[in-house]
Amino acid sequence: MKAILSLTFISFFILLIGCSTQSEKVDVEQEIEAILKQLTLKEKVDLCHAQSKFSTKGVARLGIPEIWMSDGPHGVRAEIAWDSWDQLGWTNDSCTAFPALTCLAASFNEKLSYKYGKAIGEEARYRKKEVLLAPGINIYRTPLNGRNFEYMGEDPYLASKMVVPYVKGVQGNGVAACVKHFALNNQEKWRGHINVNISERALREIYLPAHKASVIEGGAWAIMGAYNKFRGQHCCHNEELNNKILKGEWGFDGVVISDWGGVHDTKEAALYGMDMEMGTWTDGLHKTKYNAYDNYHLAMPFYEKIKNGEIDESVVDDKVRRILRLMYRTCLNKERPLGSFATQEHFNTAREIAQEGIVLLKNENNFFPINPEAKLKIAVIGHNATHPMTIGGGSSELKTHHEISPLEGIKARFKNAEILYSMGYSAGIGKWWTELPSPYNADSLKTEALKVAKEADLVLFIGGLNKNLHQDSEGTDRKSLNLSYGQDELIEELNKVNEKVGVILVTGNAVAMPWINQVDAVLQTWYLGSEAGNAIADVISGDVNPSGKLPFTFPVRLEDNGAISFGELSYPGDSINQYYKEDIYVGYRWHETKNIKPLFAFGFGLSYSDFEIKESKISKKQFSSGEKLIVNCTVSNTGTIDGAEVVQVYIGKVNSKVDRAVKELKGFKKVFVKGNNDELVSVTIDIDELAFWNEEIDGWELEKGEYFIAIGNSSDNISTQIPFEVN
Ligand code: BGC
Repeated sequence: MKAILSLTFISFFILLIGCSTQSEKVDVEQEIEAILKQLTLKEKVDLCHAQSKFSTKGVARLGIPEIWMSDGPHGVRAEIAWDSWDQLGWTNDSCTAFPALTCLAASFNEKLSYKYGKAIGEEARYRKKEVLLAPGINIYRTPLNGRNFEYMGEDPYLASKMVVPYVKGVQGNGVAACVKHFALNNQEKWRGHINVNISERALREIYLPAHKASVIEGGAWAIMGAYNKFRGQHCCHNEELNNKILKGEWGFDGVVISDWGGVHDTKEAALYGMDMEMGTWTDGLHKTKYNAYDNYHLAMPFYEKIKNGEIDESVVDDKVRRILRLMYRTCLNKERPLGSFATQEHFNTAREIAQEGIVLLKNENNFFPINPEAKLKIAVIGHNATHPMTIGGGSSELKTHHEISPLEGIKARFKNAEILYSMGYSAGIGKWWTELPSPYNADSLKTEALKVAKEADLVLFIGGLNKNLHQDSEGTDRKSLNLSYGQDELIEELNKVNEKVGVILVTGNAVAMPWINQVDAVLQTWYLGSEAGNAIADVISGDVNPSGKLPFTFPVRLEDNGAISFGELSYPGDSINQYYKEDIYVGYRWHETKNIKPLFAFGFGLSYSDFEIKESKISKKQFSSGEKLIVNCTVSNTGTIDGAEVVQVYIGKVNSKVDRAVKELKGFKKVFVKGNNDELVSVTIDIDELAFWNEEIDGWELEKGEYFIAIGNSSDNISTQIPFEVN
């Protein structure tokens, strides 16, 4: 009888929160308190840990539902077995594979990020997931991190601006975004235990802003703790990160979910902010057969410690409140939309993001676009022309409805051309944890490719990295900045047999380009998902004018990267500790301060048209805290082809009392301009965004004095610089 009454009570309040006004939110909080009173200690503890690989228990007695989750971040992962990583082989779970988040970041288009979040959220909703384990926003610290492709680049401002709409788009579906990985999981090597030592200033200015934006502006309902340690404590139960900063300073009222197997201690997890422990078997790493989930740190050991008074019951109550709140936002929200899955609309969105994120790095002799009507002989060389990229790479792997390869896309668009394909080189047979040697003979592949290239009017080399071990893949880092499998040598030799060579790079990371002066063109195309080949063909045919900009620096040599330049203790560490010795000088901040010319700078990307950013003005010359600085300029498309340009606004401090990067991105806007036309652009900057983290006062300080604003279309191409003052 009591149970029936409770259920009616719950249902009543579920109806209320659908349309959530302030008073109804209060009602939800009251309802959470009412539920809490009815739960036994065991039921409370059961809500705090996994019951299977991707779900947690509900409370069957009270009709409180289970929570189901899925990766993230580029599509909704296939259904996975209860207790292992095997796919279940369902036939209804082939998703839309969206482009990798590096591509999204390269679009510099916040509206597109919302569209991405909305579409992937719809897919998660249709697949009955409460939590999407996405997006990933760890900062690009070195080009060796195997997981950079899942993140949004090297700049905290860009990542902050791009993460917020993604989170909002996902959550509009009544699906929680679980933003990951909090924090400092900037390499895969030793990710489970490496202890990150970093200055408070670098933490606050570089590594936390995107997380903060996702919580404060995006309203994220879940955050995933990272595997690594920070100042001696695992991030999943890190007092400073979770209690002080996330839940304290930022007022996060959602759920901190562990990375899979990232919890190592019951008491720390209980007290230092971990709300929900996920993993595999007992601790995510080791296999036991009997009642495995009961052995989780936040399962029976947690229960016992509460029972014997070592941990106060209020600790589990706080976690349960958060978890119930997550339910009211997701599975207990009767108003949430129904979602949709693998629709044409989603494939179109994936293609649009891919088109906008592709970056044209070099284009001599107008190599691109290639006239799709011309009767040309085109040699397409390279394994990445056909290699599926949605498979592998770790937890972001996808089972997709379709993946158009670059070769298929090119063949479909260039119907009048004769397309000659030759593999040229071959990756090994890979999984993300192992790579077996290729079954092909490297010399024969090369000989054949050179023969094909010689006969052709032009060569498209399609190579780069892939989702195998030590490439762009979770769990391991890359070993070198150079391309593997003899690609660098092959590109050089292709140049000797054909004068016209364009390189199409499929990677999620910067690579060295020793052949850059020999080839005509380079197109950086990331991992583009289901519509990869179509989007690449759209750009190389000129159907779409490229407008992507690099979200991270391409160094000439590995040693030019700040973190790497400080040697092993800085990256990858000594297997116990590492020290972020480059401090705040990450990416272009390092290159500009040290005067190290990059191969391609942050924010760089060409177009088939020419743009001029002119008549830049700022609203006034003196500002104080709380004010906004408005930059107005005109973007002229001086060519005949319609296209888009990204106005980038950087700010630097003259004679600062603290070390500062030469300049930092503080605003941007992407604008579409028709050929031979102008558009007026206005970018607003919050003056308080110019503050630096002052370690002496342990807080933000807006330094007074002289600053300059630098407006351009790349960090290394500034058209106007204007001084101003803060007082
Ligand atoms: C990854 C997470 C992922 C989780 C579940 C972990 O290994 O680090 O990003 O969400 O697995 O697949």
